[in-house]
Amino acid sequence: MAGVSVQAFRRQGRRFGAGLVCSEMVSCAGLAHRNERTLGYLTIASDEHPLAVQIFGSEPGPMAEAARMVEAAGADIVDVNFGCPVRKVTKTGAGATLLESPDRACRIVETVAGAVSVPVTVKLRRGLEHGSRACLALGPRLVEAGAAALTLHPRSARQLYSGRADHHLTAELTALVGVPVVASGDVDSRERALELLGTTGCAAVMVARAAQGNPWLLAEIVDGPRAEPTRAEVAGELLFFAGETVRELGERRATGFLKKFYGWYLGRGRFPKPFKQELLRLPTVAEVERRLLAAEPAAAAVRDRLLAGAAGVDEVLLRLPVSAHGGG
Ligand SMILES: Cc1cc2nc3c(=O)[nH]c(=O)nc-3n(C[C@H](O)[C@H](O)[C@H](O)COP(=O)(O)O)c2cc1C
Repeated sequence: MAGVSVQAFRRQGRRFGAGLVCSEMVSCAGLAHRNERTLGYLTIASDEHPLAVQIFGSEPGPMAEAARMVEAAGADIVDVNFGCPVRKVTKTGAGATLLESPDRACRIVETVAGAVSVPVTVKLRRGLEHGSRACLALGPRLVEAGAAALTLHPRSARQLYSGRADHHLTAELTALVGVPVVASGDVDSRERALELLGTTGCAAVMVARAAQGNPWLLAEIVDGPRAEPTRAEVAGELLFFAGETVRELGERRATGFLKKFYGWYLGRGRFPKPFKQELLRLPTVAEVERRLLAAEPAAAAVRDRLLAGAAGVDEVLLRLPVSAHGGG
C-alpha cells in the first residue's frame, strides 16, 4: 500500500507471519524523469525476505530497467502494477489503464520478465468500469507473456475501495490460468481468509487495510484464533513502529505519516477515543512516545524486546523513488 507499506510495516508483517510482503509502488525511471511526485527511496532489509517490490509505468523499456535495479537490490519478486486507479498515474498510461490496453500490458510483462531472472508477477483489478471482466481476458495473456503469478483485487478502478471485492472473479481467474492466483480484497478475518482459500482456488490471500494497526490479524490467519492483544502489546508495538519509522523517514516526515496509524492502533476499543485525539495534537513523535509510556508503562518492555530482536539487520538502499500516488 502506497503511503503505508514502509519498511517498518513490511517487517512487522513478516514478524507476525506473513509469507510474503510487498513494497510500496516504485516509480520506474521514465516517470521519475517526468517529475512523478515521490516520497523518498526504498530501503530493503535482510529480514524482509521474501520481498516483492512493485513497479509501475507505461513503457516496456524503462519498466525493464527498473526491474533490473529492483532485482539487483535484492527483491525476490518483481511485481507489476496494473491496478492503480489514481488519475495522476492512469493519465500517464500506467496502473489500471493497462487493463484496457492488453497488447501494451503484455509487452510490458514480456519485456520485464525477459530482463530479470526472479519471478515477475502482476497485480490487477477486475477492469476499469463497474462490472468489467477485463481481468479474465487479460490474465491468461499475461501468463503467456511471462507472469509467474497474478494477484487479483476484483474491484473496478472506478470503484476505488467502495463496495465489496467480487471474488467470484477470483474463482473464474484461477480456473483459467495455470499459475498461482492471490486473492486481494476485504480479507479482514481468519474466517474470510479460509473461505477464499477454500472456495476460489486461490493459492494465497493478501491482507492490506485490515493489517493497518492490527498485525495480530496476520498471526490469527496463519496460526489460528488467539486472544486480543493487551494494551501493553498494542502500545509497545506502536512505540517500536514509530521509532522504526522515524529512523526510516526522518523525524519531520514520520510525524505526519504516523498520525493515521494512531487511530488504527488505538481504535477497536483498545484505548478511549480522547486518548487518540490527544496524541494527534502532540507536535513531535518523541512527545507521542512519552504520552504512550505514561498511559501504559508496561509497553516499554514490549518495545525493548522488539528493539533487541531487530538489532544487527543489514540494509540496502534502493535508489528508486517510492511513488506518492498509489492504489491497486
Ligand atoms: C492506501 C492504499 C494504498 C494502496 N497502494 C497500492 C499499491 O501501491 N499497489 C497495489 O498493488 N495496491 C495498492 N493498494 C491496494 C491493496 O493492495 C489491496 O488490493 C486493496 O486495498 C484491497 O485489499 P484490502 O481490502 O485488504 O485493503 C492500496 C490500497 C490502499 C488502501
